[in-house]
This record gives sequence, structure tokens and C-alpha cells, in this order.
Amino acid sequence: MLFQKKIILGVTGGIAAYKCAHLVRLLIKEGAEVKVVMTKSASEFVTPQTLSVLSKNEVVIDFFDSNNNWNNHVHLAEWADILLVAPLTANTLAKMANGICDNVLLATYLSAKTKTIVAPAMDLDMYQHASTKQNLDKLKSFGNLVVPAESGELASGLSGEGRMAEPENIVTFLKNYLQLSLPFAGKKVLVNAGPTYEAIDPVRFIGNRSSGKMGIAIAETFAKQGANVILVLGPSSQIVADKSIKVIHVESSGEMYTASVEHFKDCDIAVCSAAVADYRPKEVSVSKIKKKEEHLNLELIKTNDILAELGKMKARQLLVGFALETNDIEIYAAKKLKEKNLDIIVANSATEKGSGFAGDTNKVTIIDKHNKITNFELKNKQEVAQDIVNYILEFKQ
Ligand code: CTP
Repeated sequence: MLFQKKIILGVTGGIAAYKCAHLVRLLIKEGAEVKVVMTKSASEFVTPQTLSVLSKNEVVIDFFDSNNNWNNHVHLAEWADILLVAPLTANTLAKMANGICDNVLLATYLSAKTKTIVAPAMDLDMYQHASTKQNLDKLKSFGNLVVPAESGELASGLSGEGRMAEPENIVTFLKNYLQLSLPFAGKKVLVNAGPTYEAIDPVRFIGNRSSGKMGIAIAETFAKQGANVILVLGPSSQIVADKSIKVIHVESSGEMYTASVEHFKDCDIAVCSAAVADYRPKEVSVSKIKKKEEHLNLELIKTNDILAELGKMKARQLLVGFALETNDIEIYAAKKLKEKNLDIIVANSATEKGSGFAGDTNKVTIIDKHNKITNFELKNKQEVAQDIVNYILEFKQ
């Protein structure tokens, strides 16, 4: 969730500043980019060198650096996805609540258009003081978020509420905030992908050349946008990098059918990108078929059409199918959209260069149930996945 997120960590002068070294490490471990801006008094509690080494960036303390170059707080604020002030002292809190701008951290805060999250830290009586409460309320009314202080032993020797939230809890707070701010937060998305293998005997099967790349890219794009993703994946050598995705490995169309139907019931969106076998051997030999006759006839029977079944089950779900065609792409795709009761169908060509199954690129046409047809350029499968997910986001059912 914090991967490649740009975070400015504003450190103010309280004893809890020593915990910032750990906080920076945790953020970096999550894959975030961190730039530290600190007040002069913060640098008496934790050295800028320590935070600079851990964040892998220069620490900004003053409007001018040691070479007399201006630290442009506006650029700094523009760079960030989040401004996190931790610890936030009562003094800086009061200044933030009243628009006072007497250091580079406050100038950065006032320039920031991004979300500001603060983690107050002070002694218990200061934390309870009416002015502190009023200032925190004021900060919240400006749209800032507050990571509540925790209870415990305080630097004064007293015990109570006022300790800065533990760095781990601050990181969790950031992740939850980012999760909830994503467009598919709280949505359950089912994706099926990859080929199916239909057994002939214990060692042979009927399969197809699908790699699963398109469906995996769709699943990963949804997950990045906050969805809770279940991926029903046929035999594929591809790795699913996003560990938040629940992957259900299946082999045959029958197994894919069972898993897809089960998870469709309570999902919000389903995307069926799998290249499901249309036919399977009627009989599966329990032992390896021996090479005896000159001709071997396999009797094949139709598999269940998973997508058509989901179309019948559909209640509030948004259902997206794929159509792989060699000719008359739009005509066949529109027919499938109607017959399988879909909201959207993504059509692609099995024969056009760069499009279809195994490669890293695809060229798709999206047709929806309102008869809108959108043609996309040839793109890599990650970009195609983004186009499909964006289309779903904008789609009105
Ligand atoms: N599909 C499915 N179950 C099947 C066959 C297809 O769920 N047994 C789904 C695919 O995942 C895809 C859509 O149906 O989303 C269309 O698949 P496609 O192979 O293009 O078409 P078919 O419906 O199989 O028809 P045909 O092979 O005749 O084109």
C-alpha cells in the first residue's frame, strides 16, 4: 500500500523524535520514498545525519542549506503524496492550527495540497488541555487526520495519554488511510485467468496457449486500487507478485467452474478472462493410454460455460467477459455480451500481431451493454489492464 508513495516526514522537537529513526526504517521497508523536514529543536533529539542515512535523502531543517541554496518548500510539498508530522508537539500543533509560519516545516505544511497526518506527542496534562483539544479539532476541521496519542509511561515520569503512537501503529494508520481512499476500497473482485487442462489420462491433457498474463495484470490492477481480489487461476507459470491477492489454483474447467461460482455469490465485480476449454474428453482413462491402434478417437463433450452461468446468477454484480476471435470480432463479441448477460465484454483478436494469448501485449475493443464501442491501441498487458479497470470504474450499470 505504501509502495512508491512519497512521504514527507515532519519531525518536531519532542522526546518521541527518537522513534522517528524506526519510523523512517519502517516506511522505507514498505517501499515508500521518504524526505525528512525537521525543526531545529527536533535536531536536538535525533540527529539529521541518522534520518538522512535512513531515508536516503538530505534532511531539510532550514530555508537555506549549508551551501546557501534555498530549500524550496513549495516543490517539496508538491512532491509529496502525504505529509506526516510525527511527533507533533503542542507548540507546532498550535502554530499549524493558527497558520503561523516561522520554520520550513510549517511553510511546507501551508504549501501542501496533499493529505496531512499528524501524530501528537506531549505530556498528559498538555494533551488534555482545552487549548490542545481545540487545536486538534481545528486541524481536523481543516481536513487533516490525527493518529491519536497512546497511553503509557511519559518522559516526565507520569503515566497517561500523550505518548506518540508507536511507529508500527502510525504505519498501519497510513496504510488504512490509503486503502480507504482508493476507488475500489471495500469491493470484492473475482477474476479468473489462464488456461484449463482437461485430462485425457493421468499424463495427458487438452490445453491451450493462454499464459494468464492478462488476467493476472487485471487482478493486480484491481488490488492496487484497493479491491479485495480473488484470482481463480488455471495452470500458469506466471507469478502473482501482489501478496494481497487470494489465488485459488485450479486445473480443469470443472474446478474453475466450482471456484468461480462459489466466489461470485458475494462479489461486486467479476472479470472472466480465462481461456476455458469448450470441450473435454468424455472418459478419462485411469491408466496411461497405450500406443496400439493406428487411429485413436477421443470423444469430447461440452464443458460448462462458466461465464454464461455467472450471467444467469447475476444479481447486483458487474460482469465482464472476454471474447477471443479470429474474425468479425465486434459482431461475435456483441453476441456473447447479450447471450451471456454481461455488462461489458473485452474483445481481442487471436490472429492480429501483438494481440491475444501468450505475448506481453494486447489490443482490445471494449463493448458494453449500452452498445458503446471503444477501441484501444496496442499496449502492454499492464496498460491494457489499467484501461479495462478504468472503464469498469467509470461504467454506469
Ligand atoms: N468462457 C467460460 N466458460 C467456457 C467458455 C468460455 O467462462 N466454457 C468465457 C471466457 O472466459 C470468456 C468468454 O466466455 O470470458 C468468451 O470465451 P470465448 O472462448 O471467446 O468464446 P466461447 O464462449 O467459448 O465461444 P466460441 O469458442 O464459440 O467463440
